[in-house]
Amino acid sequence: MFITFEGIDGCGKSTQISLFEATLREKGISSVITREPGGTKIGQAIRKILLDLDDTHMVPLAELFLYAADRAQHVREVINPALEAGKWVISDRYVDATTVYQGVVLGHHEELIEQINREATLGCRPDITFLLDCPAEVGLERRAKRDPHNKRKDRFERKTLDFHIKIRYGYLALANKHKDRFRIIDSTLPEDLVARKIREAISPYLP
Ligand code: TYD
Repeated sequence: MFITFEGIDGCGKSTQISLFEATLREKGISSVITREPGGTKIGQAIRKILLDLDDTHMVPLAELFLYAADRAQHVREVINPALEAGKWVISDRYVDATTVYQGVVLGHHEELIEQINREATLGCRPDITFLLDCPAEVGLERRAKRDPHNKRKDRFERKTLDFHIKIRYGYLALANKHKDRFRIIDSTLPEDLVARKIREAISPYLP
C-alpha cells in the first residue's frame, strides 16, 4: 500500500502520520515513513535549497524542476524498492503538492505538471491520499503556536493568508477530481478523532 498525506501548512500531517505509524506497528505491518521534499540524501540537499530563507529569487520553473528532481530520486531510491519489498509506504506530501502549490498557485500549466510528474514517478500512484482539511487561518494559527518566535519561518510559511486559502481550495478541487483515492478528513476535529477517522478509512486494507 502506498499512502500519502496532504494539506495546507499546519493541518496536522506530522502528528497524524506518527499516530498512523503506531497503528501500523500494532498491526504488525512493516512500513516506511518518508516525505517530500527530502526523502533521500539528495532530496535533503534539494529541500534546503527549496525552503531556504534567504532565497527570494527562485524562478517558478526552477522550483517546479527541483520538486520533480526530489521526487524522481525519492521514487527510485525509497518508494518503489519499499513497495516491491511488500512494505507500506507513507509519504508526507507527494505529486498532489506539486499540482496544487506549483500548478494552481504558481500557475504552471496542468499538462506540463502532469507530464513532469509522470516521468518523475514512473507512474507510481498512491492507493489512498488523506487530505487533512482545515481553514487556512487554523493552519497558520497552529504553525504560529508551534513556533511562537517565528524562528522557523521558511519561504512558504512567510506567504500570506491568501496564498494558504488558495492552497486549501486547490487541494479540495483536486480531491473532488480524484474521488477514488482521496479521503478528505476534517482536521479541525480533536487529534484522536482525526486519527480514528484515518484508521476507519484504512481498515478494509488491513490484514
Ligand atoms: P514542510 O516544512 O515539510 O511543510 P509541511 O510540514 O507543511 O509539509 O515544507 C514543505 C513545503 O514544500 C510545503 O510548504 C509545501 C511545499 N511543496 C511544494 O510546493 N511542492 C511540492 O511538490 C512539495 C512536495 C512540497
